[in-house]
Amino acid sequence: MKKQTIRPAKFLAGGVSLPGDKSISHRYAMLAALAEGASELRHFSAAADCHSTLACLSALGAKIKIEKDAVRITGKGPRGLKESRRALDAENSGTTMRLLAGILAGQEFTSKLTGDASLQKRPMKRVVVPLREMGADIRARDDNFAPLEIRGRRLRAIDYQMPVASAQVKSAVLLAGLFADGVTSVTEPARTRDHTELALEEFGAAVERNGRTVRVHPLAGTNGGKLVARALDVPGDLSSAIFFIAAASLLAESNILIHNVGLNPTRTAILDVVAGMGASIHMVSLQSSHGEVVGELAVKGASLKGGVIEGGQIPLVIDELPMLAALAPFTEEGIEIRDAAELRVKESDRIAALAENLRRMGAKVEERPDGLRVEGRKAGKLRGAEIDPRGDHRIAMAFAVAALAAEGPTVIRDADCVVVSFPTFFQELDRLAER
Ligand code: S3P
Repeated sequence: MKKQTIRPAKFLAGGVSLPGDKSISHRYAMLAALAEGASELRHFSAAADCHSTLACLSALGAKIKIEKDAVRITGKGPRGLKESRRALDAENSGTTMRLLAGILAGQEFTSKLTGDASLQKRPMKRVVVPLREMGADIRARDDNFAPLEIRGRRLRAIDYQMPVASAQVKSAVLLAGLFADGVTSVTEPARTRDHTELALEEFGAAVERNGRTVRVHPLAGTNGGKLVARALDVPGDLSSAIFFIAAASLLAESNILIHNVGLNPTRTAILDVVAGMGASIHMVSLQSSHGEVVGELAVKGASLKGGVIEGGQIPLVIDELPMLAALAPFTEEGIEIRDAAELRVKESDRIAALAENLRRMGAKVEERPDGLRVEGRKAGKLRGAEIDPRGDHRIAMAFAVAALAAEGPTVIRDADCVVVSFPTFFQELDRLAER
């Protein structure tokens, strides 16, 4: 596997273009495959995860054409998917597996869903339980892990109180709800990203929201039982932007402009967190795009204070926590992350991966079951080291950023893993870094 060497930089300057948002790309692709006719999804994510979704949808009979920066998907309506002869492979993508499980639960055929070694270790019971309650017959290894065998059928509507704050679980139940016999509702314990709700509305499904409860009406009975094909633009991915926001913040003379980035309010909590720590971030030219919010971000170097992140903030910044933790040694007070046991069941055990690699760079870290505390600047300057990202794209990118402000070069092992969300990450970082 490819190693990538990152040398310290003086500052970051210039404009950043991001891959299309990963969460939104998955949802638009799945709904386009259930719609009737041809949808055009512009600036569709280049992430390997989203291409795993496309490959699964294609195996289920959707017609997919990948062009330079757009994907055309032709669906045959909500009952138009066909049984796949081979197992559907979600590879590294939890979103592909969990959201597709919701759709497949409502099809009148059987599907097998599998994934790579990392995905086969991630908990699936959280979607299996509500989908079984809706009437689907689902088998899982040890009743929790992929491969999953889903024998779909016409489903019962349920009112589901989610025990974990997970946008993927909420989405799986809402997508299954399209194929139910009445109105399905999901109540989340804390707010999570709402791209599924927005995308369902864009494609013509009937959705109602009230506080932390979302209700979806079955397709039979709405709009003549159909979703409508759409031409949509996917905004840039804020969870990819965070690596550039952090890098620019770390290096005092930096001045960057991040173009066309998604600023959905259920995703921007991370901007409030880092701005609260002293980061210089300005939103420019906000506009709305198919229910989503898009804008530009201007970021300059700043001195960061650090602080505690916990409770209801956690689900809203879940994918940005690796970057935040790797910023901690450069802050005045250090950073403490609490209530984030979910990090242990992401693409890697991110708490363990962060603690191990931060220590390799000389940081002082206390690892806890549900988070970690990383000491700030007073504990000493970070030094370059060899990083093992454990195959996890966000760990690799977080340490590449920390390496820019460390002493001496850092080597990221198995650096190819960034293709999962941001295939051109290292080239972009190198293009912006002044050495
Ligand atoms: C996602 C939801 C989050 C997030 C993941 C993408 C989504 O996962 O970590 O990267 O697109 O719905 P959970 O819902 O499991 O917290």
